[in-house]
Amino acid sequence: MDHIANLRRMGLFDARVPRYTSYPPATAFTAGVGSDFQRDSLAALDPAVPVSVYIHIPFCERLCWFCACATQGTSTLKPVETYLRVVQMELALLAQQLPAGIRMGQMHWGGGTPTILPPDMIRDLAQAVKDVIPPDDHFSFSVEIDPTLVDDAKIAMLAQMGMTRASIGIQDFAPDVQAAIGRVQSFAATKTCVDSLRAAGITSLNADLVYGLPHQTQAKLADTIAQVRSLDPDRIALFGYAHVPNFSKRQKLIPDAALPKEQDRYALAQQAARAFTDAGYLPIGIDHFGKPADSLTQAMQQGRLRRNFQGYTDDTCPSLIGIGASAISQYAGGYVQNAAATAAYMARITAGDLAGHRGYAMGAEDRLRAQAISMLMCDFQIDLTVLHQHPEAAILAPLHDAVLDQFAGMVVRDGDTIRILPQGRPLTRIIANAYDGLGAVAARYSQAS
Ligand SMILES: C[S@@+](CC[C@H](N)C(=O)[O-])C[C@H]1O[C@@H](n2cnc3c(N)ncnc32)[C@H](O)[C@@H]1O
Ligand code: SF4
Repeated sequence: MDHIANLRRMGLFDARVPRYTSYPPATAFTAGVGSDFQRDSLAALDPAVPVSVYIHIPFCERLCWFCACATQGTSTLKPVETYLRVVQMELALLAQQLPAGIRMGQMHWGGGTPTILPPDMIRDLAQAVKDVIPPDDHFSFSVEIDPTLVDDAKIAMLAQMGMTRASIGIQDFAPDVQAAIGRVQSFAATKTCVDSLRAAGITSLNADLVYGLPHQTQAKLADTIAQVRSLDPDRIALFGYAHVPNFSKRQKLIPDAALPKEQDRYALAQQAARAFTDAGYLPIGIDHFGKPADSLTQAMQQGRLRRNFQGYTDDTCPSLIGIGASAISQYAGGYVQNAAATAAYMARITAGDLAGHRGYAMGAEDRLRAQAISMLMCDFQIDLTVLHQHPEAAILAPLHDAVLDQFAGMVVRDGDTIRILPQGRPLTRIIANAYDGLGAVAARYSQAS
C-alpha cells in the first residue's frame, strides 16, 4: 500500500479531531465553571510568577468569508469605543482579585482585528492593562495585524506601547482565491505594512497563510509562497483551512465544490512545507515554520515549545488571563472562557461580575492526558519518564500499546519514548486524539489533514 493510502486508512482524510490548542479543547467546557472559579483562580496566582495576558478585539471592518474567528463587522468606531470602555471595567474587576505586585510577562492582542483601533485607543488600552498588571523586565507584546487596516500612526503607537512581534494575516495572494474567500489584499499593501513594521523597529514578524482554500492550486500557491518569501518573515503559520459552515455561518458563502479535494489539499500542505524548509525555515510542530534564529525555532530545538490558543508559543508564563468577549483564561486549576457574544460579555461586566461563563476544572487524569497530548503536538513524541511522574500514569499504558498497533509504521517505541516518525506527522492530531479521554464531538472539528 502506498503512503497516501496508509495515511487514508489511518484516518487522515476522514477524522474530525481538535487542533488541541488546549486539552481539554474549548468544546468540552461546561457552564458549571464560571466567574466563581475565575475569582478563586485569580486570587490564587503567585505574585512572584509573571502572567500572560490575551486581549480579544471582536471587530473587523470587513468579514472574510473563510474566517472562523469570533468577530463581528462594523463600519464605525462607535461599538469599538463602547466595548473598550467595558474592557476597562473588566480590568478594574480583575484588579480587585489579583494579588498585589503581580507582573505581566507577555501580552497578545488578537481578534478580530486589533488594528481597527486608532492610535489613541491603542495607547489607552495598552496603558490600562499595564496600570493593572505592570510589565516585567522581559515583557513581550505581540499583535495580530490586518495589513489592509493599519497605517504608520497605528504601527508607531503599537511600537511606542512596547510591541515586539507582529503577526500579519496573508492567507493567499491569488486574486481568484481572495475573491472566493471575501478577502481582497494586494501584495503592495502587505509589503507597505511589512516595511512600516520594520521601520518602526519590529524585528519579529509572523505571516499567517492558509492552504485548502477555494480555487487554490499548486501553481498559485507557489506564487504566493514566492511573494511571502520576498517579505522575509521570521515565522510562518501555515493553517489548513477549517471549513465548518455549520458553526461559522459566513463560510456558507464558500461553495464546497470550489475547495481542493482531499489529496490535493494534502499535496498543497506538503508543497508549502517543502518550499519553506528549502528556503531555510525549520518546521515547528504541525503548522509553523521559523528561521533558525527565531525564538520559536529555538524553543522547539530546546524542547521548550508550548501550545496555547494562538497556536505555538515560547511563552514561559504558566497562567494566561484572557480579557474581552470569548477570551479564554488558563490557570493552574483549569480553563475559563468569557461569554462569547459581545453583548453577553458586556452585560456581565456592566452588571459588576467577571465574564467567565464556561470552563473546565482539571483533575489529575486530565493533567496526565494534557501532558501526553502537548508532548505529541509540540515534540512529536511522548517522553514516558515525564509521564511517569504523574501518579496515574498507568491509565495510559493500554493507550500506548493501542497507538503503536493502530499506527504501525508511523509511530514507534524507542526505550522510554513513543515517537511519531516523520512519515506519520500528518497524523499527529489523530494520534493525540487517542489520548483524549473526553470523547470529542467530531462534527464540531475540522478535518485533520
Ligand atoms: C484573527 S485572524 C488575523 C488577524 C487579522 N484580522 C487579519 O485578518 O489579518 C487570525 C488568523 O486565523 C486564521 N484563520 C481564520 N479562520 C480560519 C479558518 N477557517 N481556517 C484556518 N485558519 C483560519 C487566519 O490565518 C487568520 O490570519
Ligand atoms: S480574517 Fe481577520 S479581518 Fe478577516 S474576518 Fe477574520 S479576523 Fe476579521
